[in-house]
Amino acid sequence: MSSEPDEGYEEIERRLERIMEEEYAKRAKRFKDEEYYKVRQLVFDTRTIRALIKLFNKGVIRDITWIVSAGKEAVVMAGTGPEGDVAVKVYKIATANFRKYLDYIVGDYRFVPVRDRDRLIRLWAKKEYRNLVRLYEAGVSVPKPIAVVGNVLVMEFIGDEGFPAPLLREVRELPDPSSTLDAILADVRRTYLDAELVHGDLSEYNIMYWREKHWVIDVSQAVVTLHPMAEAYLRRDVERVIRFFSTRFGVRGPDPWSFVDELIREGEAR
Ligand SMILES: Nc1ncnc2c1ncn2[C@@H]1O[C@H](COP(=O)(O)OP(=O)(O)O)[C@@H](O)[C@H]1O
Ligand SMILES: [Mg+2]
Repeated sequence: MSSEPDEGYEEIERRLERIMEEEYAKRAKRFKDEEYYKVRQLVFDTRTIRALIKLFNKGVIRDITWIVSAGKEAVVMAGTGPEGDVAVKVYKIATANFRKYLDYIVGDYRFVPVRDRDRLIRLWAKKEYRNLVRLYEAGVSVPKPIAVVGNVLVMEFIGDEGFPAPLLREVRELPDPSSTLDAILADVRRTYLDAELVHGDLSEYNIMYWREKHWVIDVSQAVVTLHPMAEAYLRRDVERVIRFFSTRFGVRGPDPWSFVDELIREGEAR
């Protein structure tokens, strides 16, 4: 690709245009016009395109193939990179939940809160990237972080040929649900004791299941264990996961409250 910024811009715009049209054609029945324009607005945001161009020029992204998820705050796209498939998560500027972002940034000593909306969204993407790095290094089962530019985060793709793995929420049967729960709780321990973080939004909606194991995703809101709300978030995370395994698979997990008490004791003893 040319390094001329304007040519790069058009090229990316064309690629995105193509993806949008394919998506639209594919989903025509269930993709409301309103949603289409929402995604379109985001994808064609000048700052997002500039960030994508940088990533293409650096060789981090070679292609973007389709839209995996269009959530409230972020759009996730599938793409390819030099080492295989990548997930490209774009934080939306238009619909960002600034109140929530500030709650999870104030109280986390790693970041200085900013009031400017653009800067806050970039900080949010960077926060997810930094959290991913810490979790990855602590051995938690998360997608490998690859890069962050502006409001765009690139990570390892969990799934096959651009098709995302199912969320735990969508999984009806597991070969051994009790050991999957144990593995997830072991990751909660690593998150707390080794990465010194609390996920803060852990549930069957933010855990994928792929190649016989779980993958923890969506870590932007994870806070350091010193955050004033860390303990409350930790209790909520653990309760949700244990409750899900109990209702969906009939697995009797540990008592959430004692599990967390024990974890906090261990953390203090270190
Ligand atoms: N690394 C990844 N590989 C494959 N699919 C992903 C990846 N990260 C996210 N996804 C897909 O995108 C969806 C939304 O991602 P998530 O990070 O949970 O953002 P949010 O819930 O804030 O929209 C996920 O439910 C999952 O289907
Ligand atoms: Mg999510």
